[in-house]
Amino acid sequence: MSSIILKLSVVAIWVASVAGSLIDPRAGIPSKPTPGQLRVVENSGVCETTPGVYQASGYGDLSSTKSMWFWFFESRNDPENAPLTLWLEGGRGTSSMRGLFQENGPCRINNDSSSVSLNPYSWNEVSNVLYIDQPIGVGFSYGPEDLLAAITEDEAATDVWNFLQLFFADSRFSKYKASNFGIWTELYGASYAAVFGNYFLDQNDRIANGSISGTPINLKSIGVGGGVFDPLFQYPFYEDYAVSNPYAQLISARTVLDQTRLWYASDNSGILKMIQDCYATSYEENKIVCWNAVLAANQGWVDTLFGSFNPYYVRSNENYPPSVTPYLSNAALQAKIGAQGTYNDTNIYVAYSLEEGGVWLHDHSQEIANLINKGISTLFWAGDADFYGNYMAQELLLISLPTNFQDGMYETPLTNYNVNGHSAGVFKQVDSWSYVRVSGAGHQVGAYGGNSLERGQTALQFFNQTITQGHIFST
Ligand SMILES: *[C@@H]1O[C@H](CO)[C@@H](O)[C@H](O)[C@H]1NC(C)=O
Ligand SMILES: *[C@@H]1O[C@H](CO)[C@@H](O)[C@H](O)[C@H]1NC(C)=O
Ligand SMILES: *[C@@H]1O[C@H](CO)[C@@H](O)[C@H](O)[C@H]1NC(C)=O
Ligand SMILES: *[C@@H]1O[C@H](CO)[C@@H](O)[C@H](O)[C@H]1NC(C)=O
Repeated sequence: MSSIILKLSVVAIWVASVAGSLIDPRAGIPSKPTPGQLRVVENSGVCETTPGVYQASGYGDLSSTKSMWFWFFESRNDPENAPLTLWLEGGRGTSSMRGLFQENGPCRINNDSSSVSLNPYSWNEVSNVLYIDQPIGVGFSYGPEDLLAAITEDEAATDVWNFLQLFFADSRFSKYKASNFGIWTELYGASYAAVFGNYFLDQNDRIANGSISGTPINLKSIGVGGGVFDPLFQYPFYEDYAVSNPYAQLISARTVLDQTRLWYASDNSGILKMIQDCYATSYEENKIVCWNAVLAANQGWVDTLFGSFNPYYVRSNENYPPSVTPYLSNAALQAKIGAQGTYNDTNIYVAYSLEEGGVWLHDHSQEIANLINKGISTLFWAGDADFYGNYMAQELLLISLPTNFQDGMYETPLTNYNVNGHSAGVFKQVDSWSYVRVSGAGHQVGAYGGNSLERGQTALQFFNQTITQGHIFST
């Protein structure tokens, strides 16, 4: 008798668990790619815990071997009418999970790197937000190893456009097709904004003239934090910043002199000459020219200029924001969100491949200017404690980029940027182009607060203003 009861209860448990796997959205996603479709976990309960706010995570299978990881959060307010924002981490080859958990997502990684807290200043307060790990190989996205060794920005643009086609074709997300679309990013991601933005607009033209079919991308805004997209122009400002930023002199006068001589050296060691040679070389022509230039410029020159300071936040050497790798490497967490394989916070092969081909040392200023001139609402921002994307270079770019607003930017002074009456920095704005320098913040501006403002409050205001009003203003 007792053994029958035991068997019955075993059966009952088995039935319950099968039924559970059919209806439990957290039971994971198919392990095999489904080319041309999304594999999705809906409402995993991870990160966004605001009641009633929809989220989905999973893969867009570009082919049987290329799967792009995404995480979508519906806007906490009025999702049907809110814009759709794409966040792309820069790095190069760094996961967008950093932006999600360290800066602007619905939750923040805690100091223990293994738990999270709800973020009241998440960008999905005002927008539907889509985080994508790209190029393939970065974060949770995966693909063949040989592919990682030869990625270019143009290929990355094609992959992301293809992903968006799958996304908009999916019945869960097709309602966002016509939403105002934005590309928001930082540091090297400025190059993604430049290349992807122009590619998306060209694809829209091709759809309009019937040469391809697809869903047009309704690109309306671009946001770039501490953007580096013209190293030849921007690199000299690393010296200026090292000598005279608001916080500390980063290196000795002796080192500045040595590095200046190295920059201008007329023999083969000259950094300026090496970058110029790379600029003059096409990707296929001579990889070694650009590879040598990248090594000499970044490792030999730039990396000397911040001394022993943290180049993302020169005010402190604390490990902040905390790493997301321990949290995202947890197998139980991965199963909940449908992630497969190793979490690659930064994929060095992808990084090398972008650097080696000279993609890193390219001038994207004309492409950025094209987008601005087409009236796409554009925001540049910089934390004043950021060395890498320093405000000195940003503020010269405002008047040197070949835009329709060059004169206006030159004539408009920087004035106070307030958030609810608290001073957050200085800004200027001409037509659809805005710039803000945030006081006290490091590179990842959304991770900082200060001066009676909470972490992320300033970033949410400039984001919201740009996507809803087309430019920023003091409040
Ligand atoms: C987390 O670490 C940062 C930087 O070390 C520190 O300023 C902050 O107070 C810490 N937060 C908590 C809740 O301990
Ligand atoms: C992570 O990167 C390593 C090489 O850096 C690679 O072997 C591995 O396949 C990558 N993981 C994924 C999920 O792509
Ligand atoms: C369609 O538009 C694309 C992008 O602007 C252009 O390159 C192509 O020549 C156009 N094709 C036709 C048939 O007009
Ligand atoms: C976002 O901007 C709109 C105006 O465009 C405003 O009504 C709303 O309060 C703002 N939201 C936040 C969170 O700042």
